[in-house]
Amino acid sequence: MTAPDRPLLRVEDLQVHFPIKRGVFFDRTVGHVRAVDGVSLSIDRGTTYGLVGESGCGKSTLGRAVLRLVEPTAGRVEFDGTDVAALGGETLRRMRRRMQMVFQDPLGSLDPRQDVESLLSEPLRAHGLGGGKAGIAARIRELLDAVGLPAAALRRYPHEFSGGQRQRIGIARAIALEPDLLIADEPVSALDVSVQAQVVNLLEEIQERLGLTYLVIAHDLAVVRHISDVVGVMYLGSLVEQAPSDVLYDEPLHPYTRALMSAVPVPDPVVEERRERILLAGDLPSPADPPSGCRFHTRCPWRQETRCADEAPVLRELAPGHLVSCHWAEEIRDGVLRPRSPEEALHATAPSAEGPRPVEEDDGIFLGRDRPVPRQEQA
Ligand SMILES: Nc1ncnc2c1ncn2[C@@H]1O[C@H](COP(=O)(O)OP(=O)(O)O)[C@@H](O)[C@H]1O
Ligand code: SF4
Ligand SMILES: [Mg+2]
Repeated sequence: MTAPDRPLLRVEDLQVHFPIKRGVFFDRTVGHVRAVDGVSLSIDRGTTYGLVGESGCGKSTLGRAVLRLVEPTAGRVEFDGTDVAALGGETLRRMRRRMQMVFQDPLGSLDPRQDVESLLSEPLRAHGLGGGKAGIAARIRELLDAVGLPAAALRRYPHEFSGGQRQRIGIARAIALEPDLLIADEPVSALDVSVQAQVVNLLEEIQERLGLTYLVIAHDLAVVRHISDVVGVMYLGSLVEQAPSDVLYDEPLHPYTRALMSAVPVPDPVVEERRERILLAGDLPSPADPPSGCRFHTRCPWRQETRCADEAPVLRELAPGHLVSCHWAEEIRDGVLRPRSPEEALHATAPSAEGPRPVEEDDGIFLGRDRPVPRQEQA
C-alpha cells in the first residue's frame, strides 16, 4: 500500500485496562477497569472520524492511548505506518508533534499565567520552530488569523476571553506545530449551543485549509454529525456500530445507536411531534464488571432469550462500510423484532404480548448518568 492510500491512523484491537488497587498502600490489584476493551478503527488522511458514546464509555482513554498519554494494555496503534509503541525519546517527541489534542475545557488546559503570545510561542520554541523572534511573531499572527482572533488578543490572558474564544486559542495552539492529526476531545461540550456551531465550523475550515485528519470525540451525536465522514459508536469500551456519517444517521442498526439517535431532536416540528423515543432501562454498567455476552443486553429493548446474554457479538459488516455488533441486527433492521419498554427490558426475558409501551408526554431518554432530557429543553 503506498503512503497516500494508507490510513493515517490505524488502531487494532486496542485495550486499556486500569488496575483497581486496594489495601493500605494500594498494593493489591483487586480488578481492572476495562476502559477500552478491544477497539479497532482506521482514519484516512484528510477525513474526520467521529467517536460518540455516553460519558464513561472510554472515548477519552482511547484518544489518550493513541497519543500514548496512557500506555495501552494490548493492541496496536499505527500512525502513518509506524507502530507508536515502538517509539521512544526523540522519535516519540517528533511523532507527538504530528498529533495534537484539543481539549474540552480550554481554561483547564491553558496556563492562566501565560498571555496568548506566550501560549502560542511556547510550542514553537520547544520544537525549535518559527525561525527566530521575527519568524515566531509572524507565525503567531498567522495562527490568530486562522482561528479568527484579532492581533490585540496577544497581550491578553485566557480568563479575559469567552469560552468560544478560548477554544479558538486552544485550536491555534494545537495547529501551531502543523500536525497531521488532531484529536478533539469534546471540543464544544463546554460551550453555549450558539457558539458550538461556530467552533465546529472553524474546525472544518481549518481542516480544509491545512488538509488535517481529525478524530472528534463527543457524547453528543448532533455535534459530530456534519463534521464526520465516518462515525463510530462506543458502548462500555467497545465499538458497537460504525458507518459513513449519512448512513449511520439515516439507518442506525444497533439498538444502542437507535436509542441515542432517538434522543436527538428534529428541527421539523411535525416530525419532532411524532418522534418516537427509545428509552433505555437501567444505568450504564461498570466497565470493571461488564455484563456477559452482549454488553448492552442489560439495557437493550430488543434483547432476545437466546444468544444476547451469553454470546459476545462480533462487529460485522452488514453493508459496505457499515459495521454492527449485534446478533439480531438483520431482524431489527427488517422490523421482524420489535423493541420493548424499559420496564419489560429490565424485568422480562421474553418479549411482551402487550407490545411497546406508549411514549408519555414527559418522557425523556435516560442514558447512564446523564439526567433525562425533558421535552421542552430538547427543542
Ligand atoms: N486514569 C484512570 N484510572 C482509572 N480509571 C480510569 C482512568 N481514566 C479513566 N478511567 C475510567 O475509565 C472509564 C472510561 O473513562 P473515559 O475514557 O474518560 O470515558 P469517556 O471519555 O467516554 O467519558 C471510566 O470508567 C473511567 O472512570
Ligand atoms: S445482541 Fe441482543 S442485547 Fe445485544 S444489541 Fe443485539 S439484540 Fe440487543
Ligand atoms: Mg471523555
